[in-house]
Amino acid sequence: MHAVRPFLRSGALLRSKRNAIFVMNHRNLTTPSSPIRASVSNVMVDQTGPGEVREDPGEGHEGDTVAGKNESGEEMFGFKLNPVSTKTGGHAKSEGRPIYLDMQATTPMDPRVLDRMLPFLTEQFGNPHSRTHAYGWEAESGVDEARQHVASLVGAQSKDIVFTSGATESNNLLIKGIAKFHQAKRKHIITTQTEHKCVLDSCRYLQTQGFEVTYLPVLPNGLISLSELRAALRPETSLVSIMTVNNEIGVIQPIKEISDTLKSWAKENKQQKPFLHTDAAQAVGKIPIDVEEMGIDAMSISGHKIYGPKGIGAAYVRRRPRVRLEPLIHGGGQERGLRSGTVPAPLVVGLGEACRLAKEEMGRDHERIKKLSDRLVEGITSQVEHIVRNGDPNGYPGCVNLSFAYVEGESLLMALKDIALSSGSACTSASLEPSYVLRALGAAEDMAHSSLRFGLGRFTTEAEIELVITRIVGVVNRLREMSPLWEMVQEGIDISKIEWSQ
Ligand SMILES: Cc1ncc(COP(=O)(O)O)c(C=O)c1O
Repeated sequence: MHAVRPFLRSGALLRSKRNAIFVMNHRNLTTPSSPIRASVSNVMVDQTGPGEVREDPGEGHEGDTVAGKNESGEEMFGFKLNPVSTKTGGHAKSEGRPIYLDMQATTPMDPRVLDRMLPFLTEQFGNPHSRTHAYGWEAESGVDEARQHVASLVGAQSKDIVFTSGATESNNLLIKGIAKFHQAKRKHIITTQTEHKCVLDSCRYLQTQGFEVTYLPVLPNGLISLSELRAALRPETSLVSIMTVNNEIGVIQPIKEISDTLKSWAKENKQQKPFLHTDAAQAVGKIPIDVEEMGIDAMSISGHKIYGPKGIGAAYVRRRPRVRLEPLIHGGGQERGLRSGTVPAPLVVGLGEACRLAKEEMGRDHERIKKLSDRLVEGITSQVEHIVRNGDPNGYPGCVNLSFAYVEGESLLMALKDIALSSGSACTSASLEPSYVLRALGAAEDMAHSSLRFGLGRFTTEAEIELVITRIVGVVNRLREMSPLWEMVQEGIDISKIEWSQ
C-alpha cells in the first residue's frame, strides 16, 4: 500500500501525472472545486524523453479498494483501482498498457465529465421523472441542462433531443421508426454501402419487412456521388440515411449538399421531400454540425465517441416541420413517447458535459489533432514506401487509414501489440474478412487486408505519435524483409503480372 495512503490524504483519487501534463496545457482535467476528483488513465507520457511511455508510478495496488475521505472530509465510496501493475517506472508497453490510438472505437472519458457525473451517481440519485420531491427535481434539472448542452452543440432545440443508449439505438429508432411510420405510402429507403453495421442491419431488417433499400456505392475516395443519389430517388422514398463521418476512413459526406439535392428533387418532381437522417456518431463534437444549416431531419449521437460515458446517446428528431416516427420501446412514455424507460440521469449529465466541452474545445482539439495527424502521415510515408491512404484526405484528421503493401495485416497488428489500433471497424474486427468499407472504395483485397486505422483524439500526445511512427516504420520494414513478395519487388519483378499456380 506504499503510495496509497499519503495519496489519499492529499485528496486526489487516482490522479495521474498525465493529468498534470494536461493541466499545464490548460486542460483542467479535474475541476478544482469538485470534492471528488477523477482521472482517466494511469499511463503517463514522459514528455521529457523521446516518445517514452511510462506507467504512473505506483499509486495503488492491483484490486485495492480505496476507502477514505475526500478533501472536504466526507466519507467516500469504496473505489476499486484498475488492475494495473504498480512497479515504479515500468514501461507501459512492457506492462501491457499500449498507446491508445483507437478513438473511433471509443474515447477515454474526460475526467471533467466524470466530475460532473459523480454527484448524480451518489447523493443526487433521484429518478428524474419523480415529480413529488427534491430528489426527482434535482435529477430532472441535471437532465434538462444536459439536453440543452447536446442541443446547443448541434444547433437544435432542446425539445428535439431524445436520449437513447447510444448511436446503435438511435440509428435503429430513427431508421426503422421513420420508415415504419410512413410505410403505407412510401416504402423505399436510400443509404450507402459504407454505413456502420447498425445502419446496414436496420435496413436489412426493413427489407425482410417488405421495404426496398438502395445501397449507394461510393467513389474511390469514399464520397457519394450526388447525381447517383438523385437518380436513386423515387416518389416512394421516405428516408435517406447517410453518415456524416465514416468510422473507418474518416470521410466527411457533404450533408448540406445531400439535403439540397433532396429539396431540389422534391420541388422539381412535385414530390414530398424524403427525410434526411445522418449517423453522426463520429462527427458530433469533432466537426461543426448545425442541423438547421445542414438541413438534417434526424441524427444519431453517441456519448462514448466524444469523451463521454458509454451506454448513452441521443437522437435528434426535428419537430418543425415535424418528423413522425414509431417508437421501438414502449412503456412509460418518457422522451416524447419515443423512448420509454427511466432516463439515466448520471449518464445523460455526462453526455451533456461532454457536449458542452466539445463545443468549447472543438476548434482547439481539431487544430491539435490535425497537426498530430499530419505529422503521423508524414512521419510514416516519408520513411516507408508503397503505402496507400484510404479515403478522402480532407476527411476528419483524427481518423487516418493506411494500407501497407506487401505486409499481412494480421501480422502487422500482432507485431504492434504496444499500440492499440484497429484494422477496419472494431465491430467487425472479430472476422478476418477484409473491411467492407475499403472494398466499397475499390481497394484490392490484399490492400484492404493490410490496412490500419489510427484514431487520434483529445488526449493523444506528440510523444505518442513520435513513438508510433518509429514503431510502424520498424515493424513494416521488418515484416517486409521477411516477405518473399517484397524480395521480388526489390528485384524489380512486377508481381501483378505473375501467374500464380494453385
Ligand atoms: C458511425 C458509427 N455509428 C454507430 C456506432 C454505434 O455507436 P454506439 O456504440 O453508441 O452504439 C458507431 C460506433 O462504433 C459508429 O462509429
